[in-house]
Amino acid sequence: MTQTWSPDSWKRKEVRQLPSYPDASALDEVLSRLRSRPPLVFAGEARRLKRQLASVANGEAFLLQGGDCAESFKEFSTDNVRDTFRVLLQMAVVMTFAAAKPVVKVGRIAGQFAKPRSSDVEVQDGVELPSYRGDSINDMAFTPEARVPDPERLIKAYDQAAATLNLLRALASGGYADLHNVHQWTLDFLAGSPAGARYQQYADRISEALAFMRACGVTSDAAPSLEGVDFFTSHEALHLPFEEALTRIDSTTGRAYATSAHLLWIGDRTRQPDGAHVEFMRGLENPIGLKCGPSLDPDELVRLIDILNPGNEAGRLVLYARMGADKVGQGLPPLVRAVKRAGKRVVWSCDPMHGNTTKTASGYKTRVFDSVLKELKQFIEVLRAEGVEPGGVHFEMTGQDVTECVGGAGHLSEADLSSRYHTHCDPRLNADQALEMAFQIAEALKPANGLKRAAE
Ligand code: PEP
Ligand code: CO
Repeated sequence: MTQTWSPDSWKRKEVRQLPSYPDASALDEVLSRLRSRPPLVFAGEARRLKRQLASVANGEAFLLQGGDCAESFKEFSTDNVRDTFRVLLQMAVVMTFAAAKPVVKVGRIAGQFAKPRSSDVEVQDGVELPSYRGDSINDMAFTPEARVPDPERLIKAYDQAAATLNLLRALASGGYADLHNVHQWTLDFLAGSPAGARYQQYADRISEALAFMRACGVTSDAAPSLEGVDFFTSHEALHLPFEEALTRIDSTTGRAYATSAHLLWIGDRTRQPDGAHVEFMRGLENPIGLKCGPSLDPDELVRLIDILNPGNEAGRLVLYARMGADKVGQGLPPLVRAVKRAGKRVVWSCDPMHGNTTKTASGYKTRVFDSVLKELKQFIEVLRAEGVEPGGVHFEMTGQDVTECVGGAGHLSEADLSSRYHTHCDPRLNADQALEMAFQIAEALKPANGLKRAAE
């Protein structure tokens, strides 16, 4: 029998990946301050995203989600937020143009601070310290003091998320994202790269089409969607005390909404059907995501879907396949089949990052562009062979010119990694690699390629 849900019913379950705070009363005091802070996003916006994701579930739109693995306090700046936003806009333009479908845009941003870790401790030169768990919890510096979880960091994370959202809202609707600016979104360093040159060609064609439409009387006044974009935020719902403190009952519907972001997801390490994270997430009305790694069993996936989306509502649940390039061909078909056989309405998205992390001889965590691309292409093939439309992609990426992943058109090598390796957790695609990836997906998604689809 299902027990009643409440924002704190997760406390009855086993909870993984939570930091242990040395002073519980200091945490309680911070949580009570967070409870009186304004919501970062509104229930009506989360419902709007859910409607757009329902179109994705019906094969009528495509989901693009991307941003940092872990946002940091140190790297936070107007330029960084704007650059991530504009690369996502560029990718969306390329994908909309090629797939001839609207692209739903979701950032891993404005709240992506807390990280699950494979080990509770980190060892360097024989010294063992608690692992870094993200800037909302402790500090990355390798000293005993830095690694102590500090609840005040949750307030700082809230404040940074609020400032980031304020900027994103202005960028999305204040004129910057107007499609007529399609040429201006190119970053300086992209201008000389192959992906940048290719983007210019798209931008030229879009400008021509807009001029034609204007001549026909279709101006921004007549079609406001040209003037701005809907942009949503998301992060992993890992820190349950923080998420609970920002859960609010919506006055128009009486239902519970997470107000820390529009979409929250459950990570691959915290998806136990009887665990605390699944318990917390099942009671929210927001659209939610679930990471599906190679160890997920098809029956367990169907059980999780029953718990998380009992009403089988389209747009409620995004499944992120994150198998790894070598495992997706074997691992994904049984999951897709089981979900289809059970008649579940979901969005299938591909996270080609987390199953493809490797370490170089000199100790850098990296990802090879071609492995990421290989997983993506196979994901599209597997889904189409099962008669299911691929719904989206989920990237760790940045608008900066970093050197964290190897390969791509700029041929970044392992020797280049040390020059601008800034990530606080996993390696991200840089702006050039991310745009290049968008061209590749656009190619793979072209409607003509759908002919390969199995007859249903
Ligand atoms: C992540 O998205 O940063 C992450 C930790 O992913 P996963 O839970 O799939 O490993
Ligand atoms: Co990551």
